[in-house]
Amino acid sequence: MCGIVGYVGYRDALGVVVDALRRMEYRGYDSAGVAILDGAGSISVERRAGRLANLEAELAEAGTAFAGTTGMGHTRWATHGAPTDRNAHPHRDTTGKVAVVHNGIIENFVPLRRELEDAGVELSSDTDTEVTVHLVSRAYESGPTAGDFVGSALTVLRRLEGAFTLVFTHADHPGTIVAARRSTPLVVGVGKNEMFIASDVTAFIEHTREAVELGQDQAVVITADGYTVTDFHGGADVPTRPFTIDWDLAAAEKGGHDYFMLKEIEEQPVGVADTLIGHFAGGRIVLDEQRLADQELREFDKVFVVACGSSYHAGLLAKYAIEHWTRLPVEVELASEFRYRDPVLDRSTLVVAISQSGETADTLEAVRHAKEQKARVLAICNTNGAQIPRESDAVLYTRTGPEIGVASTKAFLAQITANYLVGLALAQARGTKYPDEVAREFGELEAMPRLVERVLASAENVRAIARQFAHERTVLFLGRHVGYPVALEGALKLKELAYMHAEGFAAGELKHGPIALIEDGLPVIVVMPSPKGRAVLHSKLLSNIREIQARGARTIVIAEEGDDTVRPFADHLIEIPVAPTLYQPLLSTVPLQIFAAEVAQARGYDIDKPRNLAKSVTVE
Ligand code: G6P
Repeated sequence: MCGIVGYVGYRDALGVVVDALRRMEYRGYDSAGVAILDGAGSISVERRAGRLANLEAELAEAGTAFAGTTGMGHTRWATHGAPTDRNAHPHRDTTGKVAVVHNGIIENFVPLRRELEDAGVELSSDTDTEVTVHLVSRAYESGPTAGDFVGSALTVLRRLEGAFTLVFTHADHPGTIVAARRSTPLVVGVGKNEMFIASDVTAFIEHTREAVELGQDQAVVITADGYTVTDFHGGADVPTRPFTIDWDLAAAEKGGHDYFMLKEIEEQPVGVADTLIGHFAGGRIVLDEQRLADQELREFDKVFVVACGSSYHAGLLAKYAIEHWTRLPVEVELASEFRYRDPVLDRSTLVVAISQSGETADTLEAVRHAKEQKARVLAICNTNGAQIPRESDAVLYTRTGPEIGVASTKAFLAQITANYLVGLALAQARGTKYPDEVAREFGELEAMPRLVERVLASAENVRAIARQFAHERTVLFLGRHVGYPVALEGALKLKELAYMHAEGFAAGELKHGPIALIEDGLPVIVVMPSPKGRAVLHSKLLSNIREIQARGARTIVIAEEGDDTVRPFADHLIEIPVAPTLYQPLLSTVPLQIFAAEVAQARGYDIDKPRNLAKSVTVE
């Protein structure tokens, strides 16, 4: 959601900024814009609704007007105000000297807007953002911060409520950018005679791998020579975290695939393997920044899992493993619902917050609510140093590299893997599993990446089936036990990517309603449990398939290799390797990802950037 970049240095700022915006397209956006300072007292701004290509076409016509070595850019995901040219960022004050780009929501923008209108300022957009640039301009014109660009920006930052990353430039201060953050992301890229600020490191990784993560309520001033971080009062004694980015540009590029998502599906075996590395040492499960003593793990009497989207489906799977291994009750909750229903939390509650981005506002607020209620929070996150892990008591990182495709794939498998590690760590500390059982489970998990590779090797069969269903109106997904969250995830992928009506159901619920939807020719995808691991469920699901076939459904069945009993009921069969029941979702999800991607491509859609969706949703 909203990508921000700022650059001060010696290169052509426009090129740097537009390249950075292209790299951050994956965050999701509906308009884009740039501002370039010419160094002689003026700022050139261009902004356009729609794809970055629209903006680039305008810039191509503008010729040399955008020459300069200081600039900033923005991809906007609309919140206040429709995604139009006039609401696109950057916004400027009435003198045209000050410009701003923003990610987040200024919650007190209504009184601020009224204050400006009362003072005779004419606002030219419907956004919450625009008030900030007029306020900085007025603070710069008169009063205690007159003529002081940085001081003016800080004065305004202190008045703002809500969540924001803001970047200000002033035409009379070329070579200086002021940026700030509260609850939304901002990192500094430290180059040689050039500095960057951005929503995430993909924006500048081509130029530098040295970065600095900013804390809550911090402002940063960058020039070509360096950076200064302060709080909103200008106090310089604030904690920051310098770090070196440990993945390279190639990891953020498509690696020969047409879409990032296809590359990310292929990367899943490595993502699962990397997430496991180093977590079993000395005969024990070891978590990264566990910061939770075994004593605490023993004292929990309840677990909540909170997450959104695909991460929520991964959370549903955590319940099966943690309850089975530890006998601790686990509730899984959509983060957006969690804090509004007054959940029962206390010191002996463990809240597991799952988020690929670590930025999702709903999940972040759920974490904050849990902490207020004195619960302990463990984050499972794919983004080092993001806000959710920062605010949590403990972190377990999924190590699957940057996920660029908006629809989650490799992060989902890595999250499932991380959930199992949490379950095993709890079982180990609480003594509900013997050390040799924990070791055996870890060994089974370590074998999974090779099995995921085998599923990927038979992708063409899945794609061929998908093409036959590319123009259906509705597809239903059925599963039982751990196959149920997989069915939900399969349906979500098809909705997200192919804009097709898709619903996932617990197969046992079929007779309580969904069976009324079955009609002649309706495609139904069924995730079968193992005939050996869960024989009872297997035979029940076979009955369910018979029921829907009798009513004319066309069945696409995902079943274990060697499961011959299912063949007569499968109009199309997708086989996956034999695996322990709890780990089967690491395999059965993969064909559903491939199915959705292929249907979407057959329908001519961009699978990396599905309409209306954002990669990280930083508003509630
Ligand atoms: C967005 C994305 C989904 C993702 C969800 C949660 O809606 O489009 O793919 O599952 O956010 O994101 P998180 O980063 O918290 O896992």
